[in-house]
Amino acid sequence: MADAFAGVRLLGPPVTDGEYIELSEHETVHLHEYTRIYAVPGLYEHVVQERLQCRSPQVAAEGLLRAAASLGLEPESMTVLDVGSGTGLVGELVRRGGVAKVVGVDALPAAREACLRDRPGVYADYVVGDFQLGDGLREALSPYAFGGLVSAGAFGGTHATPRALVNALGVLPPGAPVAFTIHEQWMDEADPDGFGVAVERLVADGRLELLERTRFQHRVTTTGEPIFYQLLVGRTG
Ligand SMILES: C[S@@+](CC[C@H](N)C(=O)[O-])C[C@H]1O[C@@H](n2cnc3c(N)ncnc32)[C@H](O)[C@@H]1O
Repeated sequence: MADAFAGVRLLGPPVTDGEYIELSEHETVHLHEYTRIYAVPGLYEHVVQERLQCRSPQVAAEGLLRAAASLGLEPESMTVLDVGSGTGLVGELVRRGGVAKVVGVDALPAAREACLRDRPGVYADYVVGDFQLGDGLREALSPYAFGGLVSAGAFGGTHATPRALVNALGVLPPGAPVAFTIHEQWMDEADPDGFGVAVERLVADGRLELLERTRFQHRVTTTGEPIFYQLLVGRTG
């Protein structure tokens, strides 16, 4: 697959105002232009996993499996919600770890299409929706008795908001293991609209108990600088 992408070049500041990838001499796309990137089979995995060494899917999936084990829960009897599931990397990893069923949610129809194309059979269901908007998502997910939540690289910045995190946790029963990754900059407790304050409030209200909070290198930028995220592992209260 790598040869198919030999012409792909990574571009970053100060070349442009953000992180871009050059697909050909005629086409340059922003790294977060997922609809375009997901349209090419294997391109997201090549750029983000291989070239930018993204570890969030593995870190989040392992976090969830660790939390389940520490709570004495059998993955084989669990249905897990994957928020911002993209092309399905996280679902594949938790299924490989023994989880019985995974249901994906992503705001982009292109993510669902890519996942069904590249990883058919991994998800029991894959719903297009945004937890921020409460756009009938709860109803679409109501047939499932979720026993856990996992999410990698889908919260913060141009992605899902703290409100989306609160809403997603709201579909779980008490005592369910959860694991998600967030850029450390969005965990800054000095930001009243950030995830740091939202997580603090969830913990103070007894809606979330934190079992682990660790810093790890999520990936490198297109110019090679490390980006650090936090892994939050816990259980719903
Ligand atoms: C960086 S990708 C990560 C995909 C996948 N979790 C992985 O690790 O490979 C982030 C994904 O989150 C999705 N996303 C962003 N905001 C969202 C929201 N509010 N609700 C649902 N999905 C969202 C994007 O469409 C995108 O597919």
